[in-house]
Amino acid sequence: MATEALAYERMHLNLKRLGLLTISEMVDQYLQEAATRELTYLETVDGLLDAEVIARQERTYETKVKLAGFPYRKGIDSFDFSFQPSLDKKLIKELLTLRFLSDGTNVVLLGPPGVGKTHLAVSIGMAVCQAGHQVYFTSAADLVGGLVKSYGMGKFDSKMRFYCRPSLLIIDEVGYLPLDRQASNLLFELISKRYENSSSIILTSNRGYGEWGSMFAEPVIASAVLDRLLHHSVTINIRGESYRLRDKRKAGIISPASAVKQKE
Ligand SMILES: Nc1ncnc2c1ncn2[C@@H]1O[C@H](COP(=O)(O)OP(=O)(O)OP(=O)(O)O)[C@@H](O)[C@H]1O
Ligand SMILES: [Mg+2]
Repeated sequence: MATEALAYERMHLNLKRLGLLTISEMVDQYLQEAATRELTYLETVDGLLDAEVIARQERTYETKVKLAGFPYRKGIDSFDFSFQPSLDKKLIKELLTLRFLSDGTNVVLLGPPGVGKTHLAVSIGMAVCQAGHQVYFTSAADLVGGLVKSYGMGKFDSKMRFYCRPSLLIIDEVGYLPLDRQASNLLFELISKRYENSSSIILTSNRGYGEWGSMFAEPVIASAVLDRLLHHSVTINIRGESYRLRDKRKAGIISPASAVKQKE
Protein backbone atom coordinates (compact mmCIF):
# COMPACT_ATOMS: atom_id res chain seq x y z
CA MET A 1 0.00 0.00 0.00
CA ALA A 2 2.89 2.29 0.89
CA THR A 3 4.42 1.56 -2.53
CA GLU A 4 1.15 2.42 -4.27
CA ALA A 5 0.93 5.73 -2.41
CA LEU A 6 4.52 6.43 -3.48
CA ALA A 7 3.75 5.54 -7.11
CA TYR A 8 0.70 7.81 -6.99
CA GLU A 9 2.78 10.74 -5.65
CA ARG A 10 5.51 10.13 -8.22
CA MET A 11 3.03 9.87 -11.10
CA HIS A 12 1.57 13.29 -10.25
CA LEU A 13 5.04 14.79 -9.80
CA ASN A 14 6.21 13.39 -13.14
CA LEU A 15 3.07 14.54 -14.97
CA LYS A 16 3.80 18.08 -13.75
CA ARG A 17 7.50 17.79 -14.60
CA LEU A 18 6.57 16.71 -18.13
CA GLY A 19 4.03 19.51 -18.42
CA LEU A 20 1.14 17.04 -18.93
CA LEU A 21 -1.23 19.31 -17.05
CA THR A 22 -4.50 18.04 -18.49
CA ILE A 23 -3.67 14.43 -17.60
CA SER A 24 -2.55 15.59 -14.17
CA GLU A 25 -5.95 17.21 -13.60
CA MET A 26 -8.09 14.36 -14.93
CA VAL A 27 -6.12 11.22 -14.11
CA ASP A 28 -7.67 10.44 -10.69
CA GLN A 29 -11.24 10.53 -11.93
CA TYR A 30 -10.31 8.92 -15.26
CA LEU A 31 -8.70 5.92 -13.56
CA GLN A 32 -11.83 5.38 -11.48
CA GLU A 33 -14.00 5.60 -14.59
CA ALA A 34 -11.66 3.27 -16.46
CA ALA A 35 -12.16 0.66 -13.72
CA THR A 36 -15.97 1.08 -13.77
CA ARG A 37 -16.15 0.94 -17.56
CA GLU A 38 -13.62 -1.91 -17.65
CA LEU A 39 -11.34 -0.12 -20.10
CA THR A 40 -8.18 -1.97 -21.14
CA TYR A 41 -4.76 -0.53 -20.18
CA LEU A 42 -4.28 0.52 -23.79
CA GLU A 43 -7.66 2.31 -23.92
CA THR A 44 -6.87 4.05 -20.64
CA VAL A 45 -3.45 5.33 -21.74
CA ASP A 46 -4.83 6.28 -25.16
CA GLY A 47 -7.76 8.21 -23.62
CA LEU A 48 -5.48 10.18 -21.30
CA LEU A 49 -2.94 11.08 -24.00
CA ASP A 50 -5.67 12.02 -26.44
CA ALA A 51 -7.23 14.42 -23.94
CA GLU A 52 -3.81 16.03 -23.36
CA VAL A 53 -3.19 16.48 -27.10
CA ILE A 54 -6.67 17.96 -27.70
CA ALA A 55 -6.28 20.40 -24.78
CA ARG A 56 -2.85 21.44 -26.06
CA GLN A 57 -4.15 22.02 -29.59
CA GLU A 58 -6.96 24.17 -28.15
CA ARG A 59 -4.49 26.21 -26.07
CA THR A 60 -2.20 26.70 -29.08
CA TYR A 61 -5.15 27.75 -31.23
CA GLU A 62 -6.36 30.19 -28.56
CA THR A 63 -2.88 31.76 -28.29
CA LYS A 64 -2.56 32.06 -32.06
CA VAL A 65 -5.99 33.67 -32.41
CA LYS A 66 -5.16 36.16 -29.63
CA LEU A 67 -1.80 37.05 -31.21
CA ALA A 68 -3.46 37.44 -34.62
CA GLY A 69 -5.43 40.44 -33.37
CA PHE A 70 -8.64 39.79 -35.31
CA PRO A 71 -11.26 42.55 -34.92
CA TYR A 72 -13.83 39.84 -34.17
CA ARG A 73 -14.02 36.06 -34.21
CA LYS A 74 -16.25 34.77 -36.95
CA GLY A 75 -15.80 31.47 -38.71
CA ILE A 76 -17.11 30.55 -42.13
CA ASP A 77 -20.06 28.75 -40.50
CA SER A 78 -21.57 32.10 -39.58
CA PHE A 79 -21.25 33.43 -43.15
CA ASP A 80 -24.55 33.42 -45.02
CA PHE A 81 -23.61 32.62 -48.63
CA SER A 82 -27.22 32.92 -49.76
CA PHE A 83 -27.07 36.64 -48.94
CA GLN A 84 -24.12 37.10 -51.33
CA PRO A 85 -25.01 35.13 -54.49
CA SER A 86 -22.22 36.76 -56.55
CA LEU A 87 -19.68 35.08 -54.30
CA ASP A 88 -18.07 31.86 -55.54
CA LYS A 89 -18.64 29.53 -52.56
CA LYS A 90 -16.45 26.83 -54.10
CA LEU A 91 -13.53 29.25 -54.31
CA ILE A 92 -13.91 30.20 -50.63
CA LYS A 93 -14.03 26.51 -49.66
CA GLU A 94 -10.90 25.94 -51.74
CA LEU A 95 -9.15 28.77 -49.90
CA LEU A 96 -10.16 27.18 -46.59
CA THR A 97 -8.11 24.10 -47.53
CA LEU A 98 -5.16 26.53 -47.10
CA ARG A 99 -3.36 25.28 -50.21
CA PHE A 100 -2.88 28.94 -51.16
CA LEU A 101 -0.48 29.36 -48.22
CA SER A 102 2.03 26.79 -49.43
CA ASP A 103 2.71 28.57 -52.73
CA GLY A 104 2.45 32.11 -51.38
CA THR A 105 -0.73 32.97 -53.25
CA ASN A 106 -2.29 36.29 -52.21
CA VAL A 107 -6.03 36.78 -51.80
CA VAL A 108 -7.58 40.15 -52.59
CA LEU A 109 -11.16 40.79 -51.47
CA LEU A 110 -12.75 43.75 -53.19
CA GLY A 111 -16.19 45.26 -52.76
CA PRO A 112 -18.27 48.02 -51.20
CA PRO A 113 -18.78 48.37 -47.42
CA GLY A 114 -20.56 45.65 -45.47
CA VAL A 115 -20.41 42.85 -48.05
CA GLY A 116 -18.31 40.54 -45.87
CA LYS A 117 -14.70 41.22 -46.92
CA THR A 118 -13.36 41.39 -43.37
CA HIS A 119 -15.57 38.51 -42.22
CA LEU A 120 -14.16 36.25 -44.97
CA ALA A 121 -10.58 37.38 -44.25
CA VAL A 122 -11.07 36.62 -40.53
CA SER A 123 -12.65 33.21 -41.27
CA ILE A 124 -9.71 32.19 -43.47
CA GLY A 125 -7.28 33.61 -40.88
CA MET A 126 -8.91 31.56 -38.11
CA ALA A 127 -8.63 28.42 -40.23
CA VAL A 128 -4.92 29.18 -40.67
CA CYS A 129 -4.55 29.48 -36.86
CA GLN A 130 -6.42 26.19 -36.48
CA ALA A 131 -3.85 24.57 -38.75
CA GLY A 132 -1.14 25.78 -36.34
CA HIS A 133 0.27 28.68 -38.37
CA GLN A 134 0.70 32.26 -37.21
CA VAL A 135 -1.48 35.02 -38.64
CA TYR A 136 -1.36 38.76 -38.11
CA PHE A 137 -4.36 40.95 -38.84
CA THR A 138 -3.94 44.71 -39.22
CA SER A 139 -5.75 47.61 -40.79
CA ALA A 140 -3.79 49.28 -43.58
CA ALA A 141 -3.83 52.52 -41.55
CA ASP A 142 -2.22 50.85 -38.50
CA LEU A 143 0.26 48.98 -40.67
CA VAL A 144 1.40 52.08 -42.52
CA GLY A 145 1.42 54.13 -39.29
CA GLY A 146 3.62 51.45 -37.68
CA LEU A 147 6.01 51.35 -40.64
CA VAL A 148 6.38 55.14 -40.81
CA LYS A 149 6.90 55.43 -37.05
CA SER A 150 9.49 52.64 -36.95
CA TYR A 151 11.34 54.23 -39.88
CA GLY A 152 11.51 57.51 -37.99
CA MET A 153 12.90 55.73 -34.93
CA GLY A 154 15.50 53.77 -36.88
CA LYS A 155 13.64 50.50 -36.19
CA PHE A 156 12.29 49.79 -39.64
CA ASP A 157 14.18 46.50 -40.07
CA SER A 158 12.75 44.95 -36.93
CA LYS A 159 9.24 46.15 -37.85
CA MET A 160 9.65 44.56 -41.27
CA ARG A 161 10.71 41.29 -39.62
CA PHE A 162 7.60 41.50 -37.41
CA TYR A 163 5.29 41.85 -40.44
CA CYS A 164 7.20 39.26 -42.49
CA ARG A 165 7.22 36.56 -39.79
CA PRO A 166 3.55 35.38 -39.79
CA SER A 167 2.62 32.76 -42.38
CA LEU A 168 -0.32 34.97 -43.28
CA LEU A 169 -0.58 38.75 -43.08
CA ILE A 170 -4.08 40.23 -43.41
CA ILE A 171 -4.15 43.88 -44.44
CA ASP A 172 -7.68 45.21 -44.02
CA GLU A 173 -9.20 48.38 -45.48
CA VAL A 174 -6.57 49.31 -48.03
CA GLY A 175 -7.52 52.51 -49.79
CA TYR A 176 -9.71 54.11 -47.13
CA LEU A 177 -7.02 56.75 -46.61
CA PRO A 178 -4.65 58.09 -49.29
CA LEU A 179 -0.96 57.33 -48.74
CA ASP A 180 1.79 59.95 -48.93
CA ARG A 181 5.10 59.27 -50.67
CA GLN A 182 6.94 57.82 -47.66
CA ALA A 183 3.97 55.64 -46.62
CA SER A 184 3.60 54.40 -50.22
CA ASN A 185 7.29 53.47 -50.42
CA LEU A 186 7.36 51.68 -47.08
CA LEU A 187 4.21 49.70 -47.89
CA PHE A 188 5.76 48.78 -51.25
CA GLU A 189 8.89 47.50 -49.43
CA LEU A 190 6.81 45.26 -47.19
CA ILE A 191 4.72 43.81 -50.02
CA SER A 192 7.90 43.29 -52.02
CA LYS A 193 9.61 41.49 -49.15
CA ARG A 194 6.70 39.13 -48.53
CA TYR A 195 6.55 38.49 -52.29
CA GLU A 196 10.26 37.53 -52.31
CA ASN A 197 9.64 35.18 -49.38
CA SER A 198 6.54 33.66 -51.07
CA SER A 199 4.46 34.54 -48.00
CA SER A 200 0.77 35.10 -48.51
CA ILE A 201 -1.18 38.29 -47.87
CA ILE A 202 -4.95 38.65 -47.68
CA LEU A 203 -5.93 42.19 -48.52
CA THR A 204 -9.33 43.84 -48.42
CA SER A 205 -10.29 47.05 -50.17
CA ASN A 206 -13.38 48.94 -51.24
CA ARG A 207 -11.51 50.27 -54.27
CA GLY A 208 -11.17 48.46 -57.58
CA TYR A 209 -7.66 48.10 -59.07
CA GLY A 210 -8.41 50.96 -61.47
CA GLU A 211 -8.48 53.36 -58.51
CA TRP A 212 -5.23 52.19 -56.93
CA GLY A 213 -3.17 54.71 -58.91
CA SER A 214 -4.73 57.60 -56.98
CA MET A 215 -4.46 55.76 -53.64
CA PHE A 216 -0.65 55.79 -53.69
CA ALA A 217 1.47 58.94 -53.88
CA GLU A 218 2.55 58.02 -57.41
CA PRO A 219 0.86 55.72 -59.93
CA VAL A 220 4.24 54.07 -60.58
CA ILE A 221 4.36 52.83 -56.97
CA ALA A 222 0.78 51.54 -57.28
CA SER A 223 1.67 49.53 -60.36
CA ALA A 224 4.84 48.14 -58.70
CA VAL A 225 2.73 47.06 -55.69
CA LEU A 226 0.03 45.52 -57.90
CA ASP A 227 2.66 43.75 -60.00
CA ARG A 228 3.98 41.84 -56.97
CA LEU A 229 0.64 41.41 -55.22
CA LEU A 230 -1.14 40.00 -58.25
CA HIS A 231 1.61 37.76 -59.68
CA HIS A 232 0.30 34.78 -57.68
CA SER A 233 -3.14 35.80 -56.52
CA VAL A 234 -6.86 35.24 -56.37
CA THR A 235 -9.18 38.25 -56.60
CA ILE A 236 -12.67 37.98 -55.15
CA ASN A 237 -14.94 40.76 -56.26
CA ILE A 238 -18.07 40.94 -54.10
CA ARG A 239 -20.82 42.96 -55.70
CA GLY A 240 -23.74 42.47 -53.36
CA GLU A 241 -25.65 44.49 -50.81
CA SER A 242 -24.34 45.52 -47.39
CA TYR A 243 -25.13 42.96 -44.71
CA ARG A 244 -25.00 45.77 -42.13
CA LEU A 245 -27.99 47.48 -43.76
CA ARG A 246 -29.94 44.26 -44.21
CA ASP A 247 -32.09 44.60 -41.09
CA LYS A 248 -32.79 48.28 -41.72
CA ARG A 249 -33.83 47.50 -45.26
CA LYS A 250 -36.05 44.64 -44.06
CA ALA A 251 -37.73 46.99 -41.60
CA GLY A 252 -38.28 49.49 -44.43
CA ILE A 253 -36.13 52.18 -42.75
CA ILE A 254 -34.08 52.55 -45.94
CA SER A 255 -34.85 51.64 -49.51
CA PRO A 256 -32.45 49.57 -51.66
CA ALA A 257 -31.67 52.76 -53.62
CA SER A 258 -30.61 54.73 -50.54
CA ALA A 259 -28.60 51.71 -49.39
CA VAL A 260 -26.58 51.95 -52.58
CA LYS A 261 -26.06 55.68 -51.95
CA GLN A 262 -24.78 54.97 -48.42
CA LYS A 263 -22.27 52.54 -49.81
CA GLU A 264 -20.73 55.09 -52.16
N1 LIG B 1 -22.93 37.08 -45.87
C1 LIG B 1 -22.82 37.35 -44.57
N2 LIG B 1 -23.30 36.48 -43.64
C2 LIG B 1 -23.23 36.76 -42.32
N3 LIG B 1 -22.71 37.90 -41.81
C3 LIG B 1 -22.22 38.79 -42.69
C4 LIG B 1 -22.24 38.57 -44.09
N4 LIG B 1 -21.68 39.62 -44.71
C5 LIG B 1 -21.32 40.47 -43.72
N5 LIG B 1 -21.65 39.98 -42.51
C6 LIG B 1 -21.49 40.66 -41.21
O1 LIG B 1 -21.75 42.04 -41.43
C7 LIG B 1 -20.80 42.85 -40.77
C8 LIG B 1 -20.01 43.64 -41.80
O2 LIG B 1 -19.24 42.74 -42.59
P1 LIG B 1 -17.69 42.97 -42.85
O3 LIG B 1 -17.06 43.54 -41.62
O4 LIG B 1 -17.08 41.72 -43.37
O5 LIG B 1 -17.80 44.07 -43.99
P2 LIG B 1 -16.71 44.63 -44.99
O6 LIG B 1 -17.01 44.13 -46.37
O7 LIG B 1 -15.37 44.34 -44.45
O8 LIG B 1 -17.07 46.19 -44.95
P3 LIG B 1 -16.13 47.48 -44.80
O9 LIG B 1 -15.59 47.78 -46.18
O10 LIG B 1 -17.06 48.54 -44.33
O11 LIG B 1 -15.06 47.15 -43.82
C9 LIG B 1 -19.93 41.89 -39.96
O12 LIG B 1 -20.49 41.79 -38.67
C10 LIG B 1 -20.07 40.58 -40.70
O13 LIG B 1 -19.88 39.48 -39.84
MG1 LIG C 1 -14.06 45.50 -43.42
